[in-house]
Parts: sequence; C-alpha cells; structure tokens
Amino acid sequence: MRAVTWQGFEDVRVEALPDPRIEEPTDAIVEVTSTAICGSDLHLYRPLAPFMEPGDVLGHEVMGRVVAVGSEVEQIAPGDRVVVPFNISCGRCHMCDLQLYAQCETTQVREHRKGAALFGYTKLYGHVPGGQADLVRVPQAHFGPVKVPEGPPDDRYLFLSDVLPTAWQAVAYADVPPGGSLAVIGLGPIGQMACRVARHRGIEKVLGVDLVPERLGMAQRHGVETVDAGQVDDVPEALRALTGGRGPDAVIDAVGMEAHGAPVAAAMQRAASVLPRSVGAALAMRAGVDRLAALRTAIDAVRRGGTLSIVGVYGGAADPIPMLELFDKGVQVRLGQAHVRRWVPEILPVLERDDDPLGLSDFVTHRLPLEEAPRAYAMFQAKEDGAIKVVLTP
Ligand SMILES: NC(=O)c1ccc[n+]([C@@H]2O[C@H](COP(=O)([O-])OP(=O)(O)OC[C@H]3O[C@@H](n4cnc5c(N)ncnc54)[C@H](O)[C@@H]3O)[C@@H](O)[C@H]2O)c1
Ligand SMILES: [Zn+2]
Ligand SMILES: [Zn+2]
Repeated sequence: MRAVTWQGFEDVRVEALPDPRIEEPTDAIVEVTSTAICGSDLHLYRPLAPFMEPGDVLGHEVMGRVVAVGSEVEQIAPGDRVVVPFNISCGRCHMCDLQLYAQCETTQVREHRKGAALFGYTKLYGHVPGGQADLVRVPQAHFGPVKVPEGPPDDRYLFLSDVLPTAWQAVAYADVPPGGSLAVIGLGPIGQMACRVARHRGIEKVLGVDLVPERLGMAQRHGVETVDAGQVDDVPEALRALTGGRGPDAVIDAVGMEAHGAPVAAAMQRAASVLPRSVGAALAMRAGVDRLAALRTAIDAVRRGGTLSIVGVYGGAADPIPMLELFDKGVQVRLGQAHVRRWVPEILPVLERDDDPLGLSDFVTHRLPLEEAPRAYAMFQAKEDGAIKVVLTP
C-alpha cells in the first residue's frame, strides 16, 4: 500500500509499505476512501518531532470500507462504510463505562503515562500506524468504527472521526448558560465547527477570533461575529466590548501550542527538533512547546466565574500558567482529548438531515490525491491558498 510517512522536521513523504493484516481477533482492515489532515498533525510536523520515528505512518481522520474483520468483530462486516474514531477504545473497561473513551484502560499507554492509544500519534500514544494510507489496521474494531449510511459524499461523515466530536465536546464543556455568550479563539477546522455546533445548539452570541482573513470570512458566513487578532491591540478588551463589558460567559481555546505571537517558543521548538533525540524530547517536554499566547487571551477574556474549555492541544510539562488570575476570577476549566464515541449518537442524526445544519458543504477547501500529501501538509501549515480543511484521497 501507499502511505504518508513522517521523515523529519517538516518532512513527510508518500512511501510503499506492506499491506496491514488482521493481527488480533478484535482488528478490522479498512480500505480508506478519505482521510483529512488535522491541526494535530501539524504538531507532529514540528513541535512533537522529537517523539516521532522516521517512517511512522500519519493520520487519524479516516473513513472507508471494511475489507476484513477478526473473529470477535460483529458490529461491522466486510463491505460496510465506516468512520474510524481517532481514539482507540475497547468499549468495555472502567473508563469506557464512564464514556471517557480517550482514557480507555485497555489501550492506555502506561509506559509513557498517557491515555488511550491514538492512530498515527507518536510512541507516546501507542505507536499505532495512522490512516493516511490506502489501508489501515483498526484495533478494537468490535467497538470503535461507526457504520454510516450509503449515499451522501464522504465529506458529510468523515469529520465524525475527530473534528465534529471534538467541537461538540468543546461546546458541551463550555457550558454556556441560557442566553449567554461564547468566544472561540482560533478559527481552524476545530474552531469553525465549535462555532457552528454552538449556533446549532441555540447559542445566539458566538464570537470568533483569528488572524487569517479566509478563516474569519468562513466563520462570518455561519453567523459568527469575528475579531481579527491582527487588527486589534487587545483581543480580550475587544471581546469585553462585545459582551457588555464583562467578557464572554465561556471561552474555547481552539488554538493550542502553536499559537502565533510567541517567537521565543517557536525558536525553542525548532531547536528541540534538531537536537539529538533524547535531549530534544526532554526539551520539548519541559519547555520547547510552551506557547501559551491563545490560552492567555482566553483566561484574560472569560468573564469572572465563567468557563474555559480548552480543546487545543498543549504539550509542555512546565508551562507557566497565570494561576493567580484563574483563581481570582474563579474560572472553571475543562479540557482534554475528545471522547469521540460519546458524542456520535448525538451528532449522527444531525449529519443525516438533508438541510446540512452544520454546513459541511462549506468546510473542505482542498481535496488532493494521497500522493500529494507533502504539498498538502505544507499548504495547510502555511495557511496558503485559503486552505482551511484539507482532505486526501487514496
Ligand atoms: N482535544 C482534542 O481531542 C483535539 C482534537 C483535534 C484537534 N485538536 C487541537 O485543536 C487545535 C486546533 O486544530 P485545527 O485543526 O483547527 O488547527 P489549525 O492549526 O488549523 O487552527 C488553529 C487556528 O488558530 C489560529 N491562531 C493561532 N494563533 C492565534 C492567536 N494567538 N489568536 C487567535 N487565533 C490564533 C490560527 O490562525 C488557526 O486558524 C490544535 O491544537 C489541535 O491539535 C484537539
Ligand atoms: Zn484530528
Ligand atoms: Zn476501554
């Protein structure tokens, strides 16, 4: 098969690899029909490079057709059209019983003290080959893959793998009171969908912040009032001005550790990625990926007693967080990886509606052949050519 492999700092290549096969009775093999590039893949491209091995297969946003199943897999069968959640969960452990699927105790990576294994996401998360490939082996397939109807194009269902459950959880965690307001910092794919989910769930005042014109424009098309972080001196002040002086009732940080506006951290990340592997990993864990520009904006902006929902990924173990401000303002903080399967029953019926309430027909900006993955990564990272969501077709 052909697969997108990580080779080094900002270096991905499409290579020929042996086809995956059933290894466990709970496995399935899926022939991939669409696979998207995520903001999380960009962290591997750069700041998390010290945790990657050359040749690792990338990708965790995947859908396709089942071609084989192990003897214990009954919920799906060869020929079924399925979406594959990015977390790998067993569905029958204590954490899965609590619907905390991103913490599944069967697939937890204890060696690195991490939660559930993820597709294509470094040795910290189980070193599982990803799905930016012709074929992918899906562990725990007796539980994970979601069967979807035939008919509508892949773009309607693909984002059940990550973007939609992640955005849905971010909005649920934000816990906006009736009649309240929400600000979303970062209008990448996750921020865009968080805004739309919020509007769909009846939150009238949704404010979006970014600095890329096409991203601000897309949010405006979906009922969001936007603030251009490149045009105002003080984003929290601008958000307070739009919310009666108090600040939004809840703020979602949909940026994470690669925020714009943190040049020192950027240099550290670059240094961490070119140092010898052991030193680089230690630096990346301790300080190399600490870029808190968006988080600081969110903490400053949220009203007193409001809620901060952090969905952007942070990777530093020694980030200086303004604890005084969080404590004094009495902010509630909720964060973490999305528990994908928890939200699927709520989201699937919305996707099946003919009127496309989440506007999925206005989301994917680029669709390229898998072979063009190197160009696709570079374009998405540089936000060139209006790229917002990029899908690869094997
Ligand atoms: N928690 C989860 O389960 C989960 C799942 C998927 C993605 N994520 C994370 O969510 C984050 C967003 O992902 P994405 O795919 O939308 O990526 P993305 O990189 O396209 O989006 C980030 C956006 O933030 C904007 N931005 C950067 N700095 C900013 C600043 N200082 N102020 C305002 N906006 C700023 C960028 O212009 C960009 O539009 C990433 O950190 C990703 O890893 C988390
Ligand atoms: Zn993703
Ligand atoms: Zn489990």
